[in-house]
Amino acid sequence: RTLATSHPPRLFPPGHIAFAIDIDGVLLRGPEPHPSAKRALAKLQENDIPFILLTNGGGISEAARCEDLSSKLDFPIAPSQLIQSHTPVKGFAEVYETVLVVGGEGENCRKVAEEYGFKNVFIPEDFYATDPGISPFSTSLPPEYARNVPRGTKIDAIFVFNDPRDWALNAQLVIDLIRSDNGVYGTLAEPQAKEHIPTYFTNTDLVWASQYHIPRLGQGAFKFVVEALAHRFPMPVGGPRLRPIGKPSSHTFRYAQKLLTEALVAKLKEKSPELEFNEVTHGLASADALADAAAAEVATSPPPADHISETTSEEESSPNTEVEAAAAQVATSPPPADPTSETTPEEESSPNTEVEAAAAPDTANHPPSKPPRQPAILKRVYMIGDNPESDVLGANRASYQGTSWWSLLVRSGVWREPQPTRNPIAIVDDVLAAVDWAMENEQ
Ligand code: G3P
Ligand code: MG
Repeated sequence: RTLATSHPPRLFPPGHIAFAIDIDGVLLRGPEPHPSAKRALAKLQENDIPFILLTNGGGISEAARCEDLSSKLDFPIAPSQLIQSHTPVKGFAEVYETVLVVGGEGENCRKVAEEYGFKNVFIPEDFYATDPGISPFSTSLPPEYARNVPRGTKIDAIFVFNDPRDWALNAQLVIDLIRSDNGVYGTLAEPQAKEHIPTYFTNTDLVWASQYHIPRLGQGAFKFVVEALAHRFPMPVGGPRLRPIGKPSSHTFRYAQKLLTEALVAKLKEKSPELEFNEVTHGLASADALADAAAAEVATSPPPADHISETTSEEESSPNTEVEAAAAQVATSPPPADPTSETTPEEESSPNTEVEAAAAPDTANHPPSKPPRQPAILKRVYMIGDNPESDVLGANRASYQGTSWWSLLVRSGVWREPQPTRNPIAIVDDVLAAVDWAMENEQ
């Protein structure tokens, strides 16, 4: 990034807020909108506050989902305002060429993966159509859109995009490929083989809030099944490579923060085109740099002490390094010059000073050696969610590049009284109450 040369640029003042809002159990309950959903979104829009919908749902394209959401909520949602469970795997298309995509209505998920740029996308129905013997107790006929999978086809990675419809077929196939000779269809690896393919689960929610009054098993339940099965078979060295993405993974929260910061900058630029945005000093590192730093930060990032929960689960204690490494491979642009320029929590909570780049040097003859250190332009993101293990946990762990995340738990979805397993900053009735709480907090 170059700074203006003839006069010090006027940099955007920091101190803005944004919202990430969960869908199921917050904005929707099954197909029905929550009564206060539209009002809550309208309030954010009226106040010119950027927001995104951050869901572990998926299975259709972002564009199709936005169309559906806009009509259900009676409020326009643009694809740039939506992150589904699989949206953050877009960049992985540069890492893996031939993939198996699991879940949802198969052909929809295939289309989504192809849109993301994956070259060869297979779905479980393809394998079943090629050889129905793969799943002896599956009862449905192979759909007409199923493709043939030649023996010897090598799958590079498995992505679970959505809830499988035929668990028997899907579990069998995933286990087959995990046990195969490095992803080659129809083979079985030698015991103690070194190489085998990864499986990415884009949603680890055990349960989710649907129309039914008791939460339903979610996509995460399928991960438990695969995990349990994988450990019953001889595995290549290192064990099965089962990797979570989606909420609460840091990969997804970083992706969300980047989108929100971009949305904020676009809004501010619209109002004041003369202002300049500096990617490094304003806390928007490039996606690859975020990914590079992820593994370390998962363990070290300090959320505000009053709402951090002790982490106990396996996933939390072992950073999601493989996901981050895969994401890092897709990096094309260089990392920011000074990735250490993140603000400390103390700096973050310092007053919302109007920073007007007086600090920027005249760079006509001497390029600046280091950009001026400024608080992140996006001070705080409020995550409104109904699932403590997904929305609250993810937000509590997410504080990147000087932006902090605060979680607000609603009573309208999965979570039931009395005590959430993860502590949010506040518990409120619904999404409108959450927006009000946050806006009052910012007064
Ligand atoms: O399948 C969707 C579900 O697991 C969660 O969706 O919007 O609550 O993240 P959401
Ligand atoms: Mg939810």
